[in-house]
Amino acid sequence: MPVWHLIEGATLRWNGPMRTTADQLAGVLDHWKSGTGPLYQQLADAIVALAESGTLEHGARMPSERALATRLHLSRNTVTAAYQRLRDQGWLEASAGSAPRLGTRSRGVAALTAQDRFSRILVGQDPPLVALNTASPPPAPAVSAALAAPEALLDGRAALGNGYAALGDRDLTLAITDHLRRQGIAARPDEVVVTSGAQQALWLAVTALASPATPVALEAITYPGVFDAIAAAGSRPFALPMTDEGLDVEGSAKLLRAAEPDLAYLTSFNNPTGTSLADADAIRLLTAAKLAGTTMIDDRTLADLALSGRRPRPFASLGTGASVITIGGMSKVFWGGLRIGWLHTNATLAAQLRHRRAAMDLGSPALFQRVGAVLLREAYDDTLEWRLASLRESLAATRAAMREAGLDWEAVDPAGGPSLWVRLPGLSSERFAERAERAGVPVVAGAAFSVVPGAGVDRFRLPFYLPPEEMRLGIKILAERAA
Ligand SMILES: Cc1ncc(COP(=O)(O)O)c(C=O)c1O
Repeated sequence: MPVWHLIEGATLRWNGPMRTTADQLAGVLDHWKSGTGPLYQQLADAIVALAESGTLEHGARMPSERALATRLHLSRNTVTAAYQRLRDQGWLEASAGSAPRLGTRSRGVAALTAQDRFSRILVGQDPPLVALNTASPPPAPAVSAALAAPEALLDGRAALGNGYAALGDRDLTLAITDHLRRQGIAARPDEVVVTSGAQQALWLAVTALASPATPVALEAITYPGVFDAIAAAGSRPFALPMTDEGLDVEGSAKLLRAAEPDLAYLTSFNNPTGTSLADADAIRLLTAAKLAGTTMIDDRTLADLALSGRRPRPFASLGTGASVITIGGMSKVFWGGLRIGWLHTNATLAAQLRHRRAAMDLGSPALFQRVGAVLLREAYDDTLEWRLASLRESLAATRAAMREAGLDWEAVDPAGGPSLWVRLPGLSSERFAERAERAGVPVVAGAAFSVVPGAGVDRFRLPFYLPPEEMRLGIKILAERAA
């Protein structure tokens, strides 16, 4: 059963003057006839749903009655009656005319561009009792050992020089290139940009490629760190539909073809739902993206954290010929405190972004770049194995604590990634998050991850990166004081 149905999940902003053609409207009016009641009413209700979700913009001009009737194979009378109903309800501007504008009751999407959601997740200098607001792991043993004695790790490898490696430490760039090659991407060092975490990589990519002309396509529920970058580019997000099982690939491919956005951003595994695309589905989506002229950002920050089944393959390894930018980093397997991430794209864009990044901050700390290179080359496989074992253990402890506390929270185990996407039956997740914060165990309510206002409001993200005893304590407090 779809959670975020197609018509609830998309915001289309057409190029140029806001005019919705009959073809565009037909493209997003999916299954509109499946309801009951007269056809004109079903059509009007479906258009209201599109306006409510922001799929159709406030002020957009609708197709003429005749064009829409022809396109939908309806009698003109049916469309006239549907438009009249919309006028009566205040959805279409009152002035007569066969191509009216969507009027005052439709929700504009301006609210979506004011993105203070991410900062709300990050604020707070004092460490809480149990921090369940960020999905960030404690350092892996290999990191703690490296930081305790970096000289031993670096062991006479080239000196740190003046401490600046603004365009990316050579060793680290080569280690990342090898890492990407092992994952199936035919990467070359000049195609790799070293960044301060995957966060800076996505910021660089989004601000370089998004524009006010077209929206950026995102999973309806996604990593909130992307919203500010989209707003900074003067663009806006629009949602690709999702079901409980993950992305609705057919609906998303259809939307990409209809909206032809310059850019789409996808997370693998999804943060916070833990879903990923099967290869065949990824290929279908990439094929649609190629036809639409859309560049895909494949954010693989969580991709190696496969808890069941296999790791999703990089989009760039699937041979579709679509334009793909791959993003990743060391935060989720090793430690976020290293602030080492990367971006892979064509050599020309990579060179531009490398210089743009250098102009921002003159590079990540040279020591951490050096340490990162050695860890990535020599400790990746063992550390990943350790991290996955820790995550499985913490998830089991979390589940056990939920059972012991008699909580009625609903969540399926994620295919990958460090979070449960929990549904709270009969409880507002915003209110739950407020109580949780007061109890010293902050969590993030679902709305923060949602592209469309109103989606995800009965959910919250429960990361299980912390050790089992901390997870047990956190759940106990949440059960006693917030649930
Ligand atoms: C999907 C996704 N992208 C990017 C990031 C940012 O990670 P980093 O610490 O590498 O900047 C995160 C962190 O949670 C994430 O989940």
